[in-house]
Amino acid sequence: PSPNAFVRATETTAYIRSKLPASLQTPRVAIVCGSGLGGLAETIEAEPRVELAYGTIPNFPQSTVQGHAGKFVFGVIGTTPVALLVGRAHFYEGHTMDLVSFATRVCKVIGVGTIIVTNAAGGLNQTYAVGDIVCLNDHLNMPGLIGQNPLMGPNIEEFGVRFPPLSDAYDLDLRRRAHIAWKTLGLDRGKRQLHEGVYAFVAGPTYETRAECRMLHTLGADLVGMSTVPEIVVARHAGIRVLAFSLVTNSAVLEAGPRGDDPTIQGLTSAELMEHLSKGKANHEEVLEAGRDAALDMQALVKQILSDLQET
Ligand code: 6GU
Repeated sequence: PSPNAFVRATETTAYIRSKLPASLQTPRVAIVCGSGLGGLAETIEAEPRVELAYGTIPNFPQSTVQGHAGKFVFGVIGTTPVALLVGRAHFYEGHTMDLVSFATRVCKVIGVGTIIVTNAAGGLNQTYAVGDIVCLNDHLNMPGLIGQNPLMGPNIEEFGVRFPPLSDAYDLDLRRRAHIAWKTLGLDRGKRQLHEGVYAFVAGPTYETRAECRMLHTLGADLVGMSTVPEIVVARHAGIRVLAFSLVTNSAVLEAGPRGDDPTIQGLTSAELMEHLSKGKANHEEVLEAGRDAALDMQALVKQILSDLQET
């Protein structure tokens, strides 16, 4: 049997520390950069700074998606030693939940106490606009509810208890700081809004059908995406404080499509029908594009929150 995640994370941590100067060996905050949000890595001071490609790190899963470069970046933001995870492993790539959440366990072992997780997500809440940012205050773990939870299997006592609560998963103090930082930066006077909302985690890789979007919205989700929740579950198990942001990169389609027997479409040509149906179809390019535009505000927000954390 392969060693458990604590044993592997301890081995991985020893390897990583061997590559880091003393000043970076115990990062206090980890930041997970989602699709198109890797620009955060550029906000790290130039020195000291160490990048480790996931492919060179023992026990790490290898990422396979375009637009998700995979590297760990260690450095300092303000005065805080940080670990940035640029790119992440997704469940839809075929990795186990254990592997998808492994980097978060390494963060725990290396000394991280707070994790800031970002992602690109589809908006289900009709008050959200593309480019808005949502501070998560809860989640629906769809794979988890049907038997794909990263904590399944023997409990790893070194990390936490068998039955961890998740009712307080999204740290209220950090969320409050996020809203304050948003105002401090003057972003409340810009065109982009900061919301709070509930993230539905689905396995992917297909985007949702219209009926699935309506289902998730009815169940209380404001956003839908294919990441983040496995990391948050193992982070909370291990007592790491969590702050999470979604960038709304597209608006999920809630309305049922036209029916084949709708009289108003009977006269249309195939081309006119295509035109009719193309609106609101999720695609990876628009997801990456919205990420580029809003990434700078997201970066500024995370930096501001970090600088406020240091003062307390
Ligand atoms: Cl619409 N769905 C999912 N599952 N993930 C997304 C998305 C939608 N938009 C960005 N990421």
